[in-house]
Amino acid sequence: MTRRRICLGAVLPMAGVALGLGLGCARSGTAVGPVVAPGPQGVPQVGQVAATAAGGSLQGGELPVVALAEIGFLVSDLKAAQAFYGDFLGFRQVGFSPMRRLVFEVAPGQTIEVIRGDPDIDGRLDHVSFHVRDARQIEAALVAAGHNGTLLVVDGGRTAVGLRDPDGHRIQFIESEAARTVLSSRRNVPDPGGIATHMAHFGFLVGRLDRALDFYQRTLGFVEFWRGSSGGSHLDWVNLQIPGGPDYVELMLYEELPPPDERGTKNHVCLFTPDVERAVAVLAERPNRGSYWREIAVKVGRNRKRQVNLYDHDGNRIELMEPDTVDGVPAPSSKAPPPRDFHGNPQRVPNPSRDGTRRAEPGGSPRD
Ligand SMILES: [Fe+2]
Repeated sequence: MTRRRICLGAVLPMAGVALGLGLGCARSGTAVGPVVAPGPQGVPQVGQVAATAAGGSLQGGELPVVALAEIGFLVSDLKAAQAFYGDFLGFRQVGFSPMRRLVFEVAPGQTIEVIRGDPDIDGRLDHVSFHVRDARQIEAALVAAGHNGTLLVVDGGRTAVGLRDPDGHRIQFIESEAARTVLSSRRNVPDPGGIATHMAHFGFLVGRLDRALDFYQRTLGFVEFWRGSSGGSHLDWVNLQIPGGPDYVELMLYEELPPPDERGTKNHVCLFTPDVERAVAVLAERPNRGSYWREIAVKVGRNRKRQVNLYDHDGNRIELMEPDTVDGVPAPSSKAPPPRDFHGNPQRVPNPSRDGTRRAEPGGSPRD
C-alpha cells in the first residue's frame, strides 16, 4: 500500500483567496486548490452517519464530507479558457499560475480550475475536490478499507487527503475554513449578471458500478438516491449524495469506454440555476456571445429538469440545470440493470432504489 505524508507551503495564493494545497504538485506538477471564500460564519448542518458496512467504513459521529469544492479540467489554450469561463460564463478569476492554470469562482468555496495539459489524460478531467470537516477521518476510513495511494498533505492549518478512485479519477478531500461557510453562504438566486448559484454535482465515468459503490457509498458514506437510464435497457447514471450536504456525484456508467474526445462530455460539472431560460438570456447579452459557436438549446432531461449544456473550446461540459423538476413531481428511479462490464458480463449490483425510498438530509436535499 502506498501512503505518504508530506508538508507543503501554499502554492501561488492569489488575492488571498486561492490556496493551492499542492496535492497535484506531489503527483504530476499540477497546482490545485480550493478557494477559501469569505462569507457568513456558521457551521453547516452536517448529518449523522448512517449505519454502513464494516471493514473501513465510516461509522458513528459526524460525517466529514460537506460540499463540492473544485473540479479541474485540462485545456489546450488558457486564453480561450479565460474567454469561456471568465468572459462568457461570467466567473471571477481567483487564482492562476503563469502559463499553467487559471481558477474561476462559481460560488463561495466552489471553483473550476483549468490546467494546460494533455487531453488524453482521463478525458480531460484532472481532479475533483470535496470540502471536508476532518481529512484525517477520511484518510483513516480509506486506509482501513484498503484503498491504495492515499496521500495526506498538511499545509499550515489545512489538511487534505488525495487518491485515485477505482476508475482512476484523482479525488481530493480538503479540510479548511471554507468547509464551515460553503453551505451557509449559498444563495437561492444568482448574482446580478450571474448564471448559477453553485455547483451541484460532478459527473465522471465509471466502468464498474460495484467498485464505485464500494468506494463512495460503503467506505465514504455517500448515499444513493436516484438511478437513470436513457434507453431503458441499462443504467446510464447513478447519483450519490455526499453525506454532509445536498451536493452529489453522478456516476456516468458505460459499457464501452468512450474514445478520449468524447469523455469530456461525460466528465462534467453541473451548476444549479433557478431559471435556465433566464441564464440563457444572460449569456445572450455577453459581449463575446458571438465567439461561442455551439447551439445553446434548453431541454428537459430524463430527470425531468430543465437544463442546457455548454462546452469549453476543448469540449469540457458545463451543465446548467434547475434544481426542481418541471412539474414538481420527482422523476422515478430506473430499475434497469447496470451495463455489462468490460468482459461483457452482467454486473451484479443490488438495487437499493427499487422501493423508491430516499433519505431526508439535514444538510438539504439534492431535489432530484
Ligand atoms: Fe449531470
